[in-house]
Amino acid sequence: MKLKTLVKTLVDDAIEISVVGSFSRLGIALRRTLFGWTPPPPDALAGKTVLVTGPTSGLGRAAAEALAALGARVVLVGRSQERLAAVHDALVSAHGQDRFPVVVADMGSLASVRAAVAWVLETEPRLDVVIDNAGTIYAERMDGPDGVEATLAILVVAPFVLISGLLPLLRQTPGSRVIAVTSGGMYSQRLHLDDMQWDSEPFSGSRAYARAKRAQTALIREWARRTALERGTDGRDGTGESPIFNAMHPGWADTPGLAETLPGFYRLMQPFLRTPEQGADTIVWLATDPAASEVSGKLFLDRRPRPFDRIPSTRLSPADRRRVWETVVQLSGAPDPAPGR
Ligand SMILES: NC(=O)c1ccc[n+]([C@@H]2O[C@H](COP(=O)([O-])OP(=O)(O)OC[C@H]3O[C@@H](n4cnc5c(N)ncnc54)[C@H](OP(=O)(O)O)[C@@H]3O)[C@@H](O)[C@H]2O)c1
Repeated sequence: MKLKTLVKTLVDDAIEISVVGSFSRLGIALRRTLFGWTPPPPDALAGKTVLVTGPTSGLGRAAAEALAALGARVVLVGRSQERLAAVHDALVSAHGQDRFPVVVADMGSLASVRAAVAWVLETEPRLDVVIDNAGTIYAERMDGPDGVEATLAILVVAPFVLISGLLPLLRQTPGSRVIAVTSGGMYSQRLHLDDMQWDSEPFSGSRAYARAKRAQTALIREWARRTALERGTDGRDGTGESPIFNAMHPGWADTPGLAETLPGFYRLMQPFLRTPEQGADTIVWLATDPAASEVSGKLFLDRRPRPFDRIPSTRLSPADRRRVWETVVQLSGAPDPAPGR
């Protein structure tokens, strides 16, 4: 590594260790300058199709808008027909074209997700990028419509079913990518593999959220590992090309979701929060940048891979990650999409 690059990397690592400096708007501003980020070419996604869950607010909306501006056909997957229509109409009016199909799906319900998958498989001839973004924190423990604890359902099980269902189409699309929007909050929590649904412990919404995000990243690593094993020397297996899988976390961004679910934190940090566009920057980078197509199974913040763990006791071993996979397969009620590995 050249000395200049080494110095930049060390400065970036020092920002990362400070946490507040890294996750706040300061972090992205410093890194943008440090690494001289350039925007993607204006037609980077022309002819490509991106699916975004939760495009009606915050980061998902910022990502959908940025990806649409780069020429993508953007499939908008959300739970409210009315809010989806508002985003759809705003995109059509901004771009003068209707390349923004709307799919109504509750991302906490497996039946709803399966119906969305069926619609996409029937309608879309290609799928270049899937962005698993929809999410929230629930104040109270409750079961979703499939009897799975609601946090685990919306952040882990339903996205797993979405990705599994879309896999054949992703495989048909050369260079396809899956991007999971996770949270730096996951660093604080160890996953309780014997009690992923909070049956024995008193429920805490923020801890359930952090643990589910940790499970989400464990699955991304498993997807990457399992599909890499499938790849032949030409990157293809018998069924097509394997997509790449990465997670990113946005730092702390000023979104309706953050204001609503963590009001105390939001009030305290508000002056330092990123804009939704800054929070979504790495989503857009992972969806477009050629360098981002060369890595799979990583966690990114501000366009650089970051560690999955900061506290040794929270680390998930490879066997733990396999167990998370097996638990989620069981909760999905469907066959293992990448078995025997
Ligand atoms: N903001 C941050 O600082 C931050 C930090 C770390 C991670 N994140 C993650 O970033 C992602 C986006 O969060 P945000 O801050 O942008 O929050 P947000 O403003 O509340 O947006 C959340 C999106 O998810 C959708 N959604 C929620 N529940 C859903 C369900 N059951 N079915 C379908 N869609 C559903 C919402 O749809 P409606 O419009 O219908 O409500 C909305 O479009 C989440 O995964 C969150 O955990 C955010």
